[in-house]
Amino acid sequence: MADKTLNEIRNTFLKYFEKNDHQIVESSNLVPNNDPTLMFANSGMVQFKNVFTGLEKRDYVRATTSQKCVRAGGKHNDLENVGYTPRHHTFFEMLGNFSFGDYFKEQAIDYAWNLITKDFGIDKNRLYVTVFHEDDEAFNFWKKIAGFSDDRIIRIATSDNFWSMGETGPCGPCSEIFFDHGDHLHGGLPGTKDEDGDRFIEIWNLVFMQFEQVTKDKRINLPKPSVDTGMGLERIAALLQGTHDNYETDHFKKIINSASDIIKIKSDKSNLSSFRVIADHLRASSFLIAEGVLPSNEGRGYVLRRIMRRGMRHSHLLGAKDPVFSKLFDTLLNEMSGNYPELKRAESLIKETLKMEEEKFLVLLDRGIKILNDEISKIDKVLPGDIAFKLYETYGFPIDLTEDILKSKSLEFDKERFGELMRESIELARKNWKGSGDSAVEQVWYGVKEKYGATEFLGYENDQAQGVIKSLLKNHKEVDTLNEGDEGIIVVNQTPFYAESGGQVGDTGLISKDEFEFEVTDVQKKLVDLFVHYGKVKKGSIKLEQDVEMKINIEKRNDTRAYHSATHLLHESLRRVLGPHVTQKGSLVEPERLRFDFSHMKPISDDEMVKIESHVNDMISKQSDVTTRIMTPKEAVDNGALALFGEKYGDEVRVLSMGDEGEKYFSTELCGGTHVKNTGDIGKFKIISQSSIAAGVRRVEALRDKQLDDYLKNKEKMLNLSSEKDDEQINELSKQISDLGGKPNLDETDKKVLIKNLNKQLETLSVNSILQDQSKNKVNDLEVNGVKVRFQNVEDLPPKELRKLVDKGKKELGEGIVIVFASKDDKVGIAVGVTEKLTEKFDAVQFVKTGSEVIGGKGGGGRKDFAQAGGQDQSKINDAFEKIKSLI
Ligand code: SER
Repeated sequence: MADKTLNEIRNTFLKYFEKNDHQIVESSNLVPNNDPTLMFANSGMVQFKNVFTGLEKRDYVRATTSQKCVRAGGKHNDLENVGYTPRHHTFFEMLGNFSFGDYFKEQAIDYAWNLITKDFGIDKNRLYVTVFHEDDEAFNFWKKIAGFSDDRIIRIATSDNFWSMGETGPCGPCSEIFFDHGDHLHGGLPGTKDEDGDRFIEIWNLVFMQFEQVTKDKRINLPKPSVDTGMGLERIAALLQGTHDNYETDHFKKIINSASDIIKIKSDKSNLSSFRVIADHLRASSFLIAEGVLPSNEGRGYVLRRIMRRGMRHSHLLGAKDPVFSKLFDTLLNEMSGNYPELKRAESLIKETLKMEEEKFLVLLDRGIKILNDEISKIDKVLPGDIAFKLYETYGFPIDLTEDILKSKSLEFDKERFGELMRESIELARKNWKGSGDSAVEQVWYGVKEKYGATEFLGYENDQAQGVIKSLLKNHKEVDTLNEGDEGIIVVNQTPFYAESGGQVGDTGLISKDEFEFEVTDVQKKLVDLFVHYGKVKKGSIKLEQDVEMKINIEKRNDTRAYHSATHLLHESLRRVLGPHVTQKGSLVEPERLRFDFSHMKPISDDEMVKIESHVNDMISKQSDVTTRIMTPKEAVDNGALALFGEKYGDEVRVLSMGDEGEKYFSTELCGGTHVKNTGDIGKFKIISQSSIAAGVRRVEALRDKQLDDYLKNKEKMLNLSSEKDDEQINELSKQISDLGGKPNLDETDKKVLIKNLNKQLETLSVNSILQDQSKNKVNDLEVNGVKVRFQNVEDLPPKELRKLVDKGKKELGEGIVIVFASKDDKVGIAVGVTEKLTEKFDAVQFVKTGSEVIGGKGGGGRKDFAQAGGQDQSKINDAFEKIKSLI
């Protein structure tokens, strides 16, 4: 029978355990959402961490998964080994079976033994196992089940046979299964000095989860002994396909062959490690980007960038001059999107990101090589460690490349100093890594949810409802009563209050009963579907199990709804105008405004902005009904619904469609939020600011209806006033505008962003008013040797604003040369613009150089069509102009 493909082997494993009463559970995300300390999921048990410790209950006690894992950064880090061994990966899939307090050692060994010897048909004579040295039980089960003689069951005393996920978390002794790939390969049995060779390879790790490491020094027993096993899919695929090299399996061969086609170089022994690196790093990068991790200089994004650049450096080594990864992605998509649809959903984002990063990196490589050559000309033999480090840290130039280049010239670098600087920088990075993912899950909620179950949400249809008090909390502890003046939390069996999620803020309102009144200031969701109402007792007191009336603040909710629907229209409009790579990276939907973050590499131009806004306003003016449908996530995606990367959806999802495009809806999106019934309810819409909040992530803020009217009214007043240059009133108004965003529940970062935007607007307004006033009077248009020349001398304008006047002048002249001087305080700036055609004859840089010498400055810089410089002597402006004129 032909060898099974990697995809088939995954399937056989999962089906085997399904047949044995295990629930097949989808892989969780690489970015863990239940652990603030872990960088990436590094094994199958991560998503079950709280199930092992008893904090979380699931409706099954046996599970099986194929888990996406990344081991780069963090406790388990294989990055530097990838390429140089047949087995290391940064990204891999871990097959596993799990028992949560159900079966234990004997059954786990039995399942494993049957699968590998029967279903996989592996020759028993080529298998060995290890057990933790004190674990007689496991030893005896292996004897009994596998019929092994004592010498095939090796006792290991080291941490190799004691598995832990990280510094803390569930852990326990383990038993590993090894396969003998044959004596043609070098290597010894586990526990011997040659154990790291290629001959005896670990294929499966059975962990007998018995403990929880609570802190570094404290280990406790788990409530029930459990099982966590892990088998690297790539390794078992290699074995079953008759090789010891994971990169020789069908899956990797396809990727490597297509890399070889793209780069146009055959893979052979001499370049094999580069091909391995490319194949592995393509997988890791694509899966991380699919979850919305983008290359950056910190945290997860930094690890991603290192992986990407390491891969790209190897494609460069193989001689690639153009980006390779974005093209290679198609092969991966073909191979893996069947099991991991997120690759398909994120296809354009992944390709775009890979391409951008590789283009950037190629430039960086060129620049690095230039700098390095320059430095080489200054040294005898040893390049200082500081320079190697600067190349690495500041220019992102890989150190192994520095080393390679030096080596080829029989030079070296000061490794000791470099190492010292590296350690300092790693230490700094470590300090800055505070962990992320959800904030540590507050333990109390597990108990509350366990007792009372999920809260039923009635708020799609109702603004008010009755409920029964299930739990009361004060200072995060459960209490029997809440009394007047107490701040606390109320959990009710059902609620009309929306809990913050999907960017939409929680509702506010009132929970009351007879004399009792509790003002709800926020609502949050815990453990997916437990709604908790935060607030303060205004009057009276309340006890457990009492009935209450619950009423949300309708006006606020209606405004929030409208902003949420506007967000959907905005999302789709951004995709239509900017491209399908636009994906939501975050959003905030409040009663007074919306904020939307999305992946896009450059600022939105004015033209694009107009188009985006008109798409949204068109859909609003069509006043069409908004529909909500419930579907399975698959149906939804098949229906073209936009799903958010990195979001986990339940068995059923709400699908929101809105906007009338004849046969079709304009926007269809998975969404649990609350929405308007008709797009007309949104009211006029406008984007009021855009900014960049991280590499490749942009933020827009928008207003609608009443807030937009207020904003526009204030802005108009400001414009009028700014021409009168009444600073005091400008300030007064800018304060009013900033109050618009200065709500007490706005967080500090948001406030800062808003204030920054307002300041920018204010500055533009004041500068504009100067530009308009002064440019009218001080323009002198003339003709010199048949060329149109504008001379302009403006006072009180910061030199950095010169470009605007030059651009304006160029536009007004059509063809010609614009020479502008601006003075403020005791500085003069000069800028010269030459329209495109004339750059064949004239050079703005030359003009500026000449001019700035006269006004006592020097140099300056720019291009043929625009250049700028500074100087001191305002009295020489006319002379400078005459001198420039003489060059025309
Ligand atoms: N957690 C163990 C491992 O990663 C078994 O799944 O090896």
